[in-house]
Amino acid sequence: MSWRATILTLFPEMFPGPLGQSLAGRALKDGIWALDALQIRDFATDKHRTVDDTPCGGGAGMVMKPDVVDAACAGADIGARELVYLTPRGAPLTQAMVREFTAGPGVVLLCGRYEGVDQRVVEARGMREVSVGDFVLSGGEPAALVLLDACIRLLPGVMGAAESADEESFSAGLLEYPHYTRPADWQGRAVPPVLLSGHHAEITKWRHAEAERLTRERRPDLFNQYLAAARGPLARPPAAA
Ligand code: ADE
Repeated sequence: MSWRATILTLFPEMFPGPLGQSLAGRALKDGIWALDALQIRDFATDKHRTVDDTPCGGGAGMVMKPDVVDAACAGADIGARELVYLTPRGAPLTQAMVREFTAGPGVVLLCGRYEGVDQRVVEARGMREVSVGDFVLSGGEPAALVLLDACIRLLPGVMGAAESADEESFSAGLLEYPHYTRPADWQGRAVPPVLLSGHHAEITKWRHAEAERLTRERRPDLFNQYLAAARGPLARPPAAA
C-alpha cells in the first residue's frame, strides 16, 4: 500500500502542483505515494455552501466553520494517519517530524484560509498544528506542499540509497557543506584544492569542518543542539560555582 496524503482545502487545483514534477512526480506515477485533494466546500450543507463566518469577538477576516471542517475530516478516511493543521501558530516543522510522518501510513493535511479555523474543531479532532516557518502565508496550501515534498523524498524507492543514508548520517544536525563542480577556476575563483586532491579522508574531514563552521556562523541554535547531542543525552551543563 502506498503512503497516502489527503489534503482538505478550498483550492484542490493547487495539488499536486509542483509535486507532480521531478522526483515527487515520478514517485506519484510509480504509486509510491498517493494523493487526494478534497474540496472543503463540498461539505457545507446550506444552499450557499458557506464555509466561513465572522470572528466571535470581532476583528478582521473570516474564520472557517467548525461543522464544515469537521464534516470534511469525517469524509477524509483518516484511519491511522496523523491529522495535521498547517498554521503559523503550529510547532515548527523539523526533519525529525518529517521522518515521523514518513514512518506512518500517510498524513491528512488541513489547509486554512482566511484568519484560520475555529479552534474547537482543531481540539475536538486532536489535530497536530504545524508551521513551516516564522512568516505568514496567505493559506496553508504552500505549507502543505512543503511538508509533503520533505516527506516524499524520504519514502523508500524515491531517492537513491546513497542520498538517504547520507541524510541520516554525519550531516544530521548540521547544515550541509558547500558544493563545487568544474571548472577548477571560474572567474578567478578556485575550487578548494582539497576537493581536487583525490584524498578521500581529507575531503571528508574538510566537509565536516565546513558543515560545523557554517552551522556555528549561521545557526547558533542548531549548533548548540548539535554540541549537546555530542556530549550525550545524560550530560548536564556544569553546575554554577
Ligand atoms: N499558513 C499560513 N502561514 C503558515 C505557515 N507559516 N506555516 C504553516 N501554515 C501556514
